[in-house]
Amino acid sequence: MNPISAPFGTTLDGAAAQLFTLTNAHGLQASITDYGGTVTSLLVPDRHGVLADVVLGFDSVAGYQSPAYLRSGPYFGALIGRYGNRIRGGRFELNGKVYTLATNNGPNHLHGGLKGFDKVIWKAEPGTSADGATLKLTYQSPDGEEGYPGTLRVTVVYTLTADNALRIDYTATTDRPTPVNLTNHSYFNLGPGPDILAHELTLRADRYTVVGDTLIPTGELRPVAGTPFDFTTPHAIGERIAQVEGGYDHNWVLTGGTEGAATVYEPVSGRVMDVFTDQPGVQCYTGNFLDGTLTGQGGRVYGKHAGFCLETQHFPDSPNQPGFPSTILQPGEVLRSTTSYQFRVR
Ligand code: GLA
Repeated sequence: MNPISAPFGTTLDGAAAQLFTLTNAHGLQASITDYGGTVTSLLVPDRHGVLADVVLGFDSVAGYQSPAYLRSGPYFGALIGRYGNRIRGGRFELNGKVYTLATNNGPNHLHGGLKGFDKVIWKAEPGTSADGATLKLTYQSPDGEEGYPGTLRVTVVYTLTADNALRIDYTATTDRPTPVNLTNHSYFNLGPGPDILAHELTLRADRYTVVGDTLIPTGELRPVAGTPFDFTTPHAIGERIAQVEGGYDHNWVLTGGTEGAATVYEPVSGRVMDVFTDQPGVQCYTGNFLDGTLTGQGGRVYGKHAGFCLETQHFPDSPNQPGFPSTILQPGEVLRSTTSYQFRVR
């Protein structure tokens, strides 16, 4: 049977979480729980065909609910909504009305609030499509949840494809205008090392959104040329990271095109990951806040820079930034978006 399903433990609210494992003909294996729609493990071969887990995660739901995890809020592998990244001051104005959201990151709203899509149980339906094994997840976010207007119906389909991609298809509809910015918060480490500083990153982005001191965009889209943000040609993540205060935690403005948004190469294992998306931006976050207090699958200690995230998305704080592409979903519209993380070796 593909996918297979197994119990994943009981949530703090007493709900039974399930784990679904999708496999393809090349032996890739993606495990995803209905708790937060979280990718908990992703087995991918290296250049010798040896499988290893390339994402940060835990082997039961308890790992995602430990006091240390909830305190630090790394969002390992989770689906993020209603709004990926920050909204300034936890407020925005829409059609003349001010909406107040939970502030869960200093003065700002982050990743959907106190109980975002990463902390709810999604309805899960394992299946198969022409492209591979699938897991369809649905969640209905009630009007007013975390302060957002309208009932939002969200469907996310994970597909593990025959050509070695974990594809994520997002769909959403609403009954009132509301901001939506859906993403996945997987942390990748493609190699055997404890950190990702030697991974070579290419980002097909010629500008990034400049941020102020609480990581809220100023509105400026600044060229990356001549700065440590220039990954238009491959650079080791660690090469210039010391020049960026706190490490990389920024949104790049994607140039678009068929080559994909990003490519990451890990020299020891030979693994390569290509990221494809239809989104205008990507948050590249280098695990700057990880500090070794969490231990994941296989006893791995997650220290600083243990993984990197490429969160494909609309730009942070778009509801307050008239110059950014709009994130407002209208009744009658269907939001559709696709991102895939595809693997090969070199
Ligand atoms: C995003 C944010 C980071 C951090 C992580 C989760 O990438 O931009 O600042 O909050 O999520 O820890």
